[in-house]
Amino acid sequence: MASTLNKTIRLTPQDRNSPVKRLPSRLHKLSDTIYCGDAIEALKKFPPQSFDLVIADPPYNNGVDFGNKSDKQLEHHYRVWVKQWIELLPRVTTDTASFYICCDWVHSGFFQEQLESIGLYIINRITWKRDKGRGAKRNWKQNMEDVWFAVKDPKHYTFNIDQVKVKKNVIAPYRANGKPKDWYINESGEAERLTHPSNIWTDLTVPFWSMPENTEHPTQKPEAMIERMIEASSMKGERVFDLFSGSGTTSVVAKRLNRHYTGIELNEDYIRVAMKRLRQENNG
Ligand SMILES: C[S@@+](CC[C@H](N)C(=O)[O-])C[C@H]1O[C@@H](n2cnc3c(N)ncnc32)[C@H](O)[C@@H]1O
Repeated sequence: MASTLNKTIRLTPQDRNSPVKRLPSRLHKLSDTIYCGDAIEALKKFPPQSFDLVIADPPYNNGVDFGNKSDKQLEHHYRVWVKQWIELLPRVTTDTASFYICCDWVHSGFFQEQLESIGLYIINRITWKRDKGRGAKRNWKQNMEDVWFAVKDPKHYTFNIDQVKVKKNVIAPYRANGKPKDWYINESGEAERLTHPSNIWTDLTVPFWSMPENTEHPTQKPEAMIERMIEASSMKGERVFDLFSGSGTTSVVAKRLNRHYTGIELNEDYIRVAMKRLRQENNG
């Protein structure tokens, strides 16, 4: 019997019959929607300057064995495909737009090159601890992923540092004139301060069965991770775009944070999962 603690969002037979919105032949006006379609087709259809923030979490082309010829061809096709969608990003984004592009370590250098080759400025490389999966017998366990943080204009981009500061325990609380200097006592009675977040994110958990955000999508990103990106790099009312929407994490978080959202996803059932999550947001 399934555990009552299992909070995984699953599709009912009724959910599976719900319609999804197809990409129209032309898109004039954007509404908060996840469209069913191909990312490259979509990128060609959106009006110029449509989005303030892009979060892209593409498929990773896992399981490539570089010793095998057909896998080499697969890898080649993957790289040509990545190049194609990356080249289409500047047209659909505003002049002050920011970009977070997720990738595994195998392709990290390639993604960096591609982003720079289209004239984006890479502001940082975030590495996050992705603690899931089996250990390897003859290798180090794969435990991290990268996110490239890029902007169009390094002089004009949004970065709301106060929204994303992190709490840190103070080991030697310093007082000036008897008053705490940049620290306070938290609810547990410990000295704590808010500090600038770094580019190594070790505090995230890949969603699992007892978490209410969990779905059956195999590579769902943590809401807390996307929340950090949206809080830092967009303002309320701005438009967030996710071209590989999956279970809809970006749209769900964007909605919660009062941003507009647009998603693209090939798989109809993943869109239905996202729609279910968005409905749950409505119901608080
Ligand atoms: C890594 S997952 C994204 C997971 C997502 N960030 C989440 O939190 O659920 C990549 C997604 O891209 C979708 N996808 C693959 N090729 C695509 C394409 N050409 N256009 C649109 N979506 C595509 C896959 O179906 C998959 O759901």
